[in-house]
Amino acid sequence: MAEIKMPVEPFRIKVVEPTQKTSRKEREELLRKAGLNVFNIPAEKVSIDLLTDSGTSAMSDNQWAGLMLGDESYAGAKNFFHLEKSIKRIFGFSHVIPTHQGRAAERILFEALVKEGDCVPNNIHFDTTRANVEVRGAEAVNLCVDEVFDVSSEHPFKGNMDTQKLERFIKEKSAEKIPLVMMTITNNSGGGQPVSLENIKDVSGICRRNGIPFYFDACRFAENAYFIKQREKGYQKKSILDISRETFSFADGATMSAKKDALVNIGGFVTLNNDELAQKLKKLLIISEGFPTYGGLAGRDLEAISRGLEEVLEQDYLEHRIAQVHYLGKLLDEAGVPIYKPVGSHAVYVLADKFLPHIPRDQFPGWALTVALYRESGVRAVEIGGIMFAKKDERSEKEIYPELELVRLAIPRRVYTVSHLHYVADALVELHKKREQIKGLKIASQAPPLRHFTVRLEEV
Ligand code: F0G
Repeated sequence: MAEIKMPVEPFRIKVVEPTQKTSRKEREELLRKAGLNVFNIPAEKVSIDLLTDSGTSAMSDNQWAGLMLGDESYAGAKNFFHLEKSIKRIFGFSHVIPTHQGRAAERILFEALVKEGDCVPNNIHFDTTRANVEVRGAEAVNLCVDEVFDVSSEHPFKGNMDTQKLERFIKEKSAEKIPLVMMTITNNSGGGQPVSLENIKDVSGICRRNGIPFYFDACRFAENAYFIKQREKGYQKKSILDISRETFSFADGATMSAKKDALVNIGGFVTLNNDELAQKLKKLLIISEGFPTYGGLAGRDLEAISRGLEEVLEQDYLEHRIAQVHYLGKLLDEAGVPIYKPVGSHAVYVLADKFLPHIPRDQFPGWALTVALYRESGVRAVEIGGIMFAKKDERSEKEIYPELELVRLAIPRRVYTVSHLHYVADALVELHKKREQIKGLKIASQAPPLRHFTVRLEEV
């Protein structure tokens, strides 16, 4: 892995949040009570929380100041217009519909567009988009490039969609069965890999020729733009704003969880051009989220998102952000811990089946690693593997596991220091040395869909 220089933090710390140390004995008891599911561990008892980069950002002083300017009017709050202006400047679509988080944006969009028997292609669906497609009685299909499954291929844009697979799929199913094509940037469930502008253009062209709407799942759009600037020919001199605008110019709209690249703790939105569809979405919004100028958020939240969207475009911020993630990757890689390469933008993904080759897939090595890591160190990570993404084979009733069995170490934005990263790396390296002691797991109880939130397990 290339030399990684950690740039100096482009911020200094004004407020601190103390964290607790726990003993191994206490963590063992907590795990037992939690049914070996780290989602059930009280966050206070987690020393470094890498469960997600979602909603966990540290806001800037500028965002906190914006909270005081929250206009809490039911309709037409000024903060909505600020947000609308920021989103239009970056995304360029004509309608902005706030929601309380990303999955609410997905739900209203799919409720309006997707019917039973339809199919929705994506590079790889995130678990909430997949669930929101499936509750409509439709099929969520992943059409990513095969390189994504080659965990050591250094392809610079492993998040790309396979355009041949997409064309074949449209021919087989017919365009009428495909109400939209989605593209997730960056591709969270496939190693957090970026998508190139060339691929975006090609996918957009295929969609246009077939009359299929094309939408982004845009949670980490600025991080994706940063990789385009680094890696794609012709973009080195362009700003993140210009690259983002160009990205969105190829689509009909986007959903976004503002909890990622808008640097806030809650929020989301749908943005799109189609007037008729926007009206339908607003109707659905009113039923469950709220009036169209606040959509389940407070005025102050809208202001924080608006300011966060501007801050995330800053080159210094992104350079530090991505270097931090890559630095953790380098610490692990150099110590022989198997990780997904190249490292993406928001997380390091440990290859759990390679880390624990003695645990078969049906004993959930990824999940077992999250349990062992918490027990060892108080660090919380998340499995993105057999528990999260198993499918049932209709005939045999057996579970089919996803190609990759990963444990994601997601790095919250502007929250942890380099010493925190060293602590995490040391814990994993120690665990790797005594990996044979880690046991496989079996499910004691579960509640699909999204079973990972509630599943309880036992050691075999
Ligand atoms: N799409 C992607 C690509 C995501 O990563 C997420 C959330 C969502 C949609 C849903 O957004 O949580 O605001 O409803 N990802 C988080 C994660 C939960 O940990 O990766 P939400």
